[in-house]
Amino acid sequence: MLKLVGVETFYGKVKALHGVSLEVQKGQLVCILGANGAGKTTILKTISGLVSPEMGTVRFEGRRIDQMDPEEIVALGISHVPEGRRIFPELTVYENLLMGGFLIESGDLLRERLEATYDHFPLLKKRRHQLAGTLSGGEQQMLAISRALMLKPKLLLMDEPSLGLSPLLVRNIFRTIRRLHESGVTILLVEQNVNLALQIADYGYVLSNGKIFISGTYEELIEEEKVREYYLGEGKYIRRSRLWSG
Ligand SMILES: Nc1ncnc2c1ncn2[C@@H]1O[C@H](COP(=O)(O)OP(=O)(O)O)[C@@H](O)[C@H]1O
Ligand SMILES: [Mg+2]
Repeated sequence: MLKLVGVETFYGKVKALHGVSLEVQKGQLVCILGANGAGKTTILKTISGLVSPEMGTVRFEGRRIDQMDPEEIVALGISHVPEGRRIFPELTVYENLLMGGFLIESGDLLRERLEATYDHFPLLKKRRHQLAGTLSGGEQQMLAISRALMLKPKLLLMDEPSLGLSPLLVRNIFRTIRRLHESGVTILLVEQNVNLALQIADYGYVLSNGKIFISGTYEELIEEEKVREYYLGEGKYIRRSRLWSG
């Protein structure tokens, strides 16, 4: 569904991505892991057209998108939940959701999507007239995700949704992501919370200094000493089955 080959992205003269290749198949939940400054956000921005790669190609459903505008890319079915949520704090929950549905022309369809969102996140329905800036961090993240879902994207890009949340809310967000994945949404997730991300992902890429240095399934990655050492902490990882039981 999504395929990056040899992508090199610059900020001015500084190269942030050094030939990144990765793939997301339809229905998959793929995660990109890596330390601060590794280039994770830059990968998502390159996919959604906020920055253009100087080298390499980005294909979505077989079509080159690497020189398209962000608006065209959204219209193709790629929604981006940005780092730091970026909701509109002075607007209500409802108004924020409307902003997410900006490409929807039919009023009926817009109402339908709103209802679907409220069914999925009843808490947002309860708070629909509340200013978004007054929501808790976890609720704001839910809103940011819901806003991106208003267009029913084929592919959802999520940039560190768990950042700054308490451990309880982090688990909540991960449950939400897992639920979305199970409902059929294809997801490319950027995370520093490697342990949890790998629990729910089908496949992971580990990024370091703008390069993918290792990739694999959860089972493959936890066997890698380097990944364990740097990202998981020896012996600290929890078995996939255990985390979600109960
Ligand atoms: N707007 C920008 N201008 C210049 N350099 C940037 C900009 N955004 C990111 N960078 C640099 O690009 C590299 C990758 O950043 P980023 O993709 O944000 O990493 P991550 O999301 O993994 O923390 C870092 O060295 C960062 O300093
Ligand atoms: Mg980032």
